[in-house]
Amino acid sequence: MSVAAKLPANIGSTDNLPKVAWAKGCYLYDVDGKQYIDGSSGPAVYSIGHANAEVNDAIKAQLDRVAHGYRYNFTSDALEELTDIIRARCGGTLRHMVYVTGGSEAVESCLKLALQYHAARGEMSRRRFIARERSWHGNTLGALSVSGFLERKEAFEGSLLDVSRLSPVNAYRPIASATADTTGEAGARELEEEILRGGPETFAAFIFEPVVGAAGGCVPAPPGYAKRVREICDRYGVLMISDEVMSGAGRCGTWRALEADGVEPDLMSVAKGLAAGYLPLGAAIYSSKVADVIQRAHGAPMTGHTFTGHTACCAAGVAVQKIVQREKLVERVHANEAKLKSMIADALRGVEAVGDIRGRGYFIAAELVADRKAKAPFPAKHKLFMRIRQQALANGLICYPVGGNVDGINGDVVILAPPYNATDAELDEIVSKMAKSVKEVLTASGLN
Ligand SMILES: Cc1ncc(COP(=O)(O)O)c(C=O)c1O
Repeated sequence: MSVAAKLPANIGSTDNLPKVAWAKGCYLYDVDGKQYIDGSSGPAVYSIGHANAEVNDAIKAQLDRVAHGYRYNFTSDALEELTDIIRARCGGTLRHMVYVTGGSEAVESCLKLALQYHAARGEMSRRRFIARERSWHGNTLGALSVSGFLERKEAFEGSLLDVSRLSPVNAYRPIASATADTTGEAGARELEEEILRGGPETFAAFIFEPVVGAAGGCVPAPPGYAKRVREICDRYGVLMISDEVMSGAGRCGTWRALEADGVEPDLMSVAKGLAAGYLPLGAAIYSSKVADVIQRAHGAPMTGHTFTGHTACCAAGVAVQKIVQREKLVERVHANEAKLKSMIADALRGVEAVGDIRGRGYFIAAELVADRKAKAPFPAKHKLFMRIRQQALANGLICYPVGGNVDGINGDVVILAPPYNATDAELDEIVSKMAKSVKEVLTASGLN
């Protein structure tokens, strides 16, 4: 049976959605005047809230001067300023970037830069990628190929790249031979075994999410995992790509998500929080090691698009990042992580279905299970995560429930990813509306 046939109907339905009219800060309003608090920054994007006048003014000022200086004709103040900001935020040798318009393009660019690096070194045998199950890297063919997300891939099988696949690395659901404490090491060992099995000379890069988003529900890499991955990649000449489209730009309480693990990747994708949804913007950021090789052999990256370095998009990114820096929002996210987790735990206390509460920074999820001891998921037929999304909307809350995190089909997780500048009162409202929606759905389904 196909994956689609096993999944509940209307999984991606956008029928009957409310029509958005306007927004301010953490709140959105539909055309009927109903108010919604944005508990997940939409899909973990609107990190400084909606309709920020300073950002809108900066975009307008840029549009009034010039909307877009095409990358082969011009650089611009906005592009150069954003590059300086990102370099300072990344630190280390992550000083090079290709700007794009979203997460899939950022990942696609990282994959291509990795291939170009090996080509520049004369190692044309290094063409394959390694990635993990239960991961999401985007919807273009390359990014989709490295993703481990059954439902979103099935219709395209046959035209996707042949990618080596490793187990997810999740302390709550350890690899079969491991425990919560040893699953990081077991995951790293799998990487090394796969490199040796396929032959190190065949692999271009390993790509992973430091904190898995849509496909797992805020699953952080266990402590020590990223460092072991770094060592293994270095040992075999395989590049390390950190996909920080969802977890980066401050979302996890450090500007780079992998910063918390003390690791610098060779390449890194960012998007969502970079311009916080004010205009479409992403970047593939890469180290001097990669840049020097490409520069010497080819002069420049052989990837990019018409709207690469779009001037108004860069101006939006500059304005957003200035606010994030000036208002110390990454520091706020870092300082509030424990508080947000315990607010969620308190609000869901007594709900038998809560199996795990996890994540980093303002990227925290609650996983729901039918049996806490066995960690057994609810069968997908209950459509729990979709019903929670609907109930939350009815209760005036936007959150980010995801499904299929256990085996690609079953599993229900509710992600909260508030705007970094949400007030304490707004955080309270987000958490209590989330808990209310979860309880109402479980009760109505006879599952509590
Ligand atoms: C980790 C990760 N990578 C890549 C993408 C793709 O980004 P986009 O939807 O902007 O193309 C996403 C989107 O959710 C993501 O979460």
